Amino acid sequence: MAAVDPSGKPFPPLINDLILRAARGEKTEHVPVWVMRQAGRYLPEFREVRAENEFFKVCRTPELACEVTLQPLRRFDLDAAIIFSDILIIPQAVGMEVQMVPGKGPTFPQVLKEPSDLQHLNLNCNVKEELQYMLDALTFTRHTLNGKVPLIGFCGGPWTLMAYMIEGGGSSTQSKAKAWLYKYPEDSHILLKSLTKLLIEFLIDQVVAGAQMLQVFESHAGILTPECFKTFLLPYIKEIAEGVKSGLKRLNIDVPMTIFAKDAHYGIEELATTGFDIISLDWTIKPMRARHEAGQKVTLQGNLDPCALYGSENDIQDNVKKMLKNFGTQKYIANLGHGMYPDMCPESVQTFVNAVHNYSKLMNES
Ligand code: CP3
Repeated sequence: MAAVDPSGKPFPPLINDLILRAARGEKTEHVPVWVMRQAGRYLPEFREVRAENEFFKVCRTPELACEVTLQPLRRFDLDAAIIFSDILIIPQAVGMEVQMVPGKGPTFPQVLKEPSDLQHLNLNCNVKEELQYMLDALTFTRHTLNGKVPLIGFCGGPWTLMAYMIEGGGSSTQSKAKAWLYKYPEDSHILLKSLTKLLIEFLIDQVVAGAQMLQVFESHAGILTPECFKTFLLPYIKEIAEGVKSGLKRLNIDVPMTIFAKDAHYGIEELATTGFDIISLDWTIKPMRARHEAGQKVTLQGNLDPCALYGSENDIQDNVKKMLKNFGTQKYIANLGHGMYPDMCPESVQTFVNAVHNYSKLMNES
């Protein structure tokens, strides 16, 4: 990871490197844990910030992004921070408008309807210039974290971003986006390739700005057929791992990279060969099967059902015990299988995090 910030100022020394060791397959005294969407509406202090600031304003203001990134770390003994931002800032960078509509989620007033619409996008944009605010938020947050835990940078995967740009928001079938793959395969590849190039630049920029780990969210992977996955997702994910790793090698930097291809069970074996160090799992796959498919080389992350956090303290602890037994304590990062929901209680995260630390310590000692 970068030892100095872009202005040459040294970053504070890292105190808790547990998650980086787990990512590299090195021995860990207990299992590291963080939570997808650990900064979010389930925290009253987050809702307070959001009450006065529009969603993308929080993303674009480094002090606010830093504040909400640190909120969960003040409450829980987490082993990583994830920068507060959104995967949809890439569609914004290429010229699409995205609004965060309360109760509805992200909405694009104008979507991609047909291939000629690609001409209206600035697919050759200067990512660093367009998204400098996110890079500044990373630098500011890494300094403010003062070495407590590593800071994770992230982006959406090319397929997931393409799906949002065509659907214009959430969709249970993704049928409009999937139609492109069958109707306009060549134009789909043009869009995916352009996004991939931007994402490689963006991820390298994030590391230079201060990110100590990277995660790519292919949240809509599971809606594809295994064949579409192989044609439209896998090659670009591989290109991202290779492009980012080789770009960082030239700068003498190495950071662990995580791929979260939600619901893509059929693709785990192939994802394990892409160059990503960690495969993040949703809750619908059995840990043993995932380990079998992924092999011994990669670290696994996940995969507690987020809804398990609605259970009692005892139930959460039992579910964590089962999860740890199945994954083991090495080459493993505990997390949920997807993000926190707004109606969850903060105390459940406390129970989850402490249970991971306590039981994995006991397992390592026995
Ligand atoms: O704490 C963290 O995990 C870091 C922050 C983070 C956010 N979005 C903040 C956010 C991360 C890593 C993301 C990524 C993201 N954004 C993904 C990939 C992960 C996933 O969920 O699959 C996706 C698909 C998006 C797009 C997006 N942004 C959605 C679907 C939503 C939810 C809409 C809703 O109303 O529930 C958002 C908004 C969003 N991004 C929120 C947060 C905390 C909640 C909105 C708010 O604050 O009003």
